[in-house]
Amino acid sequence: MSSIGLIRKIVEGSGSLDNIAAEVKAFNASHVLMVTDKGVYGLGLTRPCEEHLKQAGIEVAVVNDVPPEPKQSEVQAIFDKACKFDADLVLAIGGGSAMDTAKLIALMLRNDLNVQDLLDGKRPASRKVPLIMVPTTAGTGSEGTPNAIVLVPEQNLKIGIVSDLMVADVAILDANLTLGLPPAITANTGIDALCHLMECYVSKKHNPLSDIFCLRGISLVAKYLRRAYTDGKDAEARGGMLVASCCGGIAIAGSSTVGIHALSYPLGGRYHIPHGLSNAILMPYIMEENAPCCLERYGDIARAMGLEVQGKSPEQVAQTLVDELYDLNRFLNIRCDLKAKGITLDVVDELVEAGSKVTRLLNNNPKDLSKADMKRIYTRLIQDNA
Ligand SMILES: NC(=O)c1ccc[n+]([C@@H]2O[C@H](COP(=O)([O-])OP(=O)(O)OC[C@H]3O[C@@H](n4cnc5c(N)ncnc54)[C@H](O)[C@@H]3O)[C@@H](O)[C@H]2O)c1
Ligand SMILES: [Fe+2]
Repeated sequence: MSSIGLIRKIVEGSGSLDNIAAEVKAFNASHVLMVTDKGVYGLGLTRPCEEHLKQAGIEVAVVNDVPPEPKQSEVQAIFDKACKFDADLVLAIGGGSAMDTAKLIALMLRNDLNVQDLLDGKRPASRKVPLIMVPTTAGTGSEGTPNAIVLVPEQNLKIGIVSDLMVADVAILDANLTLGLPPAITANTGIDALCHLMECYVSKKHNPLSDIFCLRGISLVAKYLRRAYTDGKDAEARGGMLVASCCGGIAIAGSSTVGIHALSYPLGGRYHIPHGLSNAILMPYIMEENAPCCLERYGDIARAMGLEVQGKSPEQVAQTLVDELYDLNRFLNIRCDLKAKGITLDVVDELVEAGSKVTRLLNNNPKDLSKADMKRIYTRLIQDNA
């Protein structure tokens, strides 16, 4: 049996955020808590939306200080502040950091819960306020996932809080908001989306429903990521990447990410490498490691990407896919000076210890990764990125 907790409504298209007041009014809401971050706010991306809402007689309180990759304590502090405004709808405008924070706020509001409760596994019976999500990166697909990730410094790890109640009611995919996304963030977040799509496709939890979103999303990334990176103002490419990212989020809701995200968590948790970048640098290594366990599925991915597969054996097709992933990283100038971040061969054992704890994802990896496998992967990664 398979199931996906789906977003109730997805609105797609350049300029679609202009109808925000109608979307809010559909919930009879009059007090909107807008959650964003300093970068997005500073660029003025939320201003037209605020204006539309105010003109429609809707009160808006703005939280604009969500930090990148927020810690548990930071989400709690933002929630405590946000509670003073008696919101009847939460609206996230931003990347995964703002969207995840908004999801947690929406889940906790009027439910007498704090972030520690959620980390301890407590869940409310229902979410009491509607949630509208507007991604400005493409991306995490957070608008479609039941997950919100918080950094827990005491454990040197990022931890995913999971609840179907955190899937958005409405997602608005407006390419206008991503036209100014800098190339490096376009690249990192675009590869994050690709990882979601490929990992969910090879996950032990893959199923006929999630597969549909994975393969279509992978085709879109293959068609549009290089274009969006090369010309950020390419609205068609930006729109295509937002849809791909959303497909990735929906795929996560039905399946699961696996080894790339699992081994990525310690790189973000302890060494503060941004989520998209840590996934991107790990992606080709883990895909190479998993290849023998999912040759047929790698063939599907290669075909969805439009790679040349005619006359090749399954092993050769898998190699073609892995080569393409290394190529894509080179094209997108994905690199990370791991030494400068304090990641040297001396910390491999510590990375393995932390990574091996992410059993929520590792248990779904097509290959059972032993600690020796993880050590080999981290060692290669560090040597190649020295
Ligand atoms: N919930 C999920 O399912 C899920 C999935 C993957 C990742 N995540 C989490 O999401 C977070 C990462 O999110 P992210 O990769 O979207 O990055 P982010 O939200 O941290 O944003 C990165 C930077 O990009 C800037 N930015 C965002 N949109 C912009 C725009 N349109 N133009 C210019 N600058 C813009 C932000 O101001 C910020 O400085 C991490 O905490 C990660 O763990 C969650
Ligand atoms: Fe991710």
